[in-house]
Amino acid sequence: MTYQVLARKWRPKDFASLVGQAHVVKALTHALERQQLHHAYLLSGTRGVGKTTLARILTKALNCETGISATPCGQCQTCVEIDATRSVDYIEMDAASNRSVDEMSALLERAIYAPVAARFQVYMIDEAHMLTHHAFNAMLKTLEEPPPHLKFILATTDPKKIPVTVLSRCLQFNLKQMPAEQISAALEKILVAENVRFEPRAVHLLARAAHGSMRDALSLTDQAIAYAARDLSLAAIREMLGAVEQRYLVQLLDAVVERNGAAVLELADEMAAHSVSFAHALQDLASLLHQIAWSQYAPDSIPDAEVNGEEIRRFAGVLPPEEVQLYYQIVTIGRSELGLAPDEYAGFTMTLLRMLAFCAVDANDCRTPQTTSKTEARSASPARAALEVLNGVRSVDDQAAVQRQQDAERALKQDPFVKQLARDFGATLIPGSVQ
Ligand SMILES: Nc1ncnc2c1ncn2[C@@H]1O[C@H](COP(=O)(O)OP(=O)(O)OP(=O)(O)O)[C@@H](O)[C@H]1O
Ligand SMILES: [Mg+2]
Ligand SMILES: [Zn+2]
Repeated sequence: MTYQVLARKWRPKDFASLVGQAHVVKALTHALERQQLHHAYLLSGTRGVGKTTLARILTKALNCETGISATPCGQCQTCVEIDATRSVDYIEMDAASNRSVDEMSALLERAIYAPVAARFQVYMIDEAHMLTHHAFNAMLKTLEEPPPHLKFILATTDPKKIPVTVLSRCLQFNLKQMPAEQISAALEKILVAENVRFEPRAVHLLARAAHGSMRDALSLTDQAIAYAARDLSLAAIREMLGAVEQRYLVQLLDAVVERNGAAVLELADEMAAHSVSFAHALQDLASLLHQIAWSQYAPDSIPDAEVNGEEIRRFAGVLPPEEVQLYYQIVTIGRSELGLAPDEYAGFTMTLLRMLAFCAVDANDCRTPQTTSKTEARSASPARAALEVLNGVRSVDDQAAVQRQQDAERALKQDPFVKQLARDFGATLIPGSVQ
């Protein structure tokens, strides 16, 4: 038997088996139950969240031979044909390749005829935002006074590009990206049904990598089943995704928290030696910080299957919330600036240096950098160092060094990014961190 990809095999056939999108399902169910039928629907949402799937379910709900309802039978000829996209009264048209006014006119001409077999003739126009201005205009009149047997379902990933004149004639539903927990719960059910062994943490990693798209989640799962020979272990999935080993991120954050510059550098070098993608590393670090922040305000938000659950809770306990926010901002901005850096390594390590150089609390409460000797640690604060010079404890050589350090700090404080951090977070330079 030929292998059918999971996304096609497991395309939901009724409202109940859709993952997420409860808000849309609820509204449509109510409308269908009360027979309040609109003539044009617009389904918007990013890739692979269920627009086409929902359009087919809605069409079955409208055309099922057992009657209009939110629970089409799925058995009658009409339902079966719609599922297989063989129904003559359900036309899926891709606006990306049929975008001109001619094609729209041809479609609308056909639309005046009564449906062949079903109750309604349903036109599903996918990627509707790709239609030309003229094509939209041609459509407007029909949208305004559609023949009673005609229904339009427009789907788009970019609703902002749909003219308001069209938008205002449609009942609009915005499909949401699904959270990783919802995706991984759905994947687990499918894997059990497919008789594939899995570690929940591996599935969670796949779900996270899908970034809210159920189609991407299923494609990745297909790939994983082949890659890991039907045994989805955490190690195999991590390897397949080229996922940055979480150990690096946890150790990096630990080193930053301890203000241990040497350890940070050592880890960055080790990551470079293992060809870790620094862009991915920054992305994952931001993700880790995001979870730490949530864990501080809602401890239950971290699911049990979370790969770093324990570490997240530990960081949540030791890092002040403002500092987590500050780090998050440094990391996300560092990631967006990666392309501007001389090279990825420089961009990555500069970001880490910023994390080392700043803290969000009062300067006096800042942790001082971990340095090699007690004397150095003592002289780490420029203010304290200046005092020592005044009191004659330090030599003039030291004084020059202090001067250089103060100049450097002054220059750094003029940096626009630094100013932004100071403004947004009340961040202050850690005394003595600029050497
Ligand atoms: N909400 C969902 N619940 C369950 N499965 C889903 C959902 N959304 C998508 N899928 C899965 O992903 C596949 C693709 O979904 P669908 O074609 O509906 O996405 P789409 O939103 O139309 O994406 P595109 O913008 O790329 O056309 C489906 O076959 C199904 O397996
Ligand atoms: Mg689609
Ligand atoms: Zn039916």
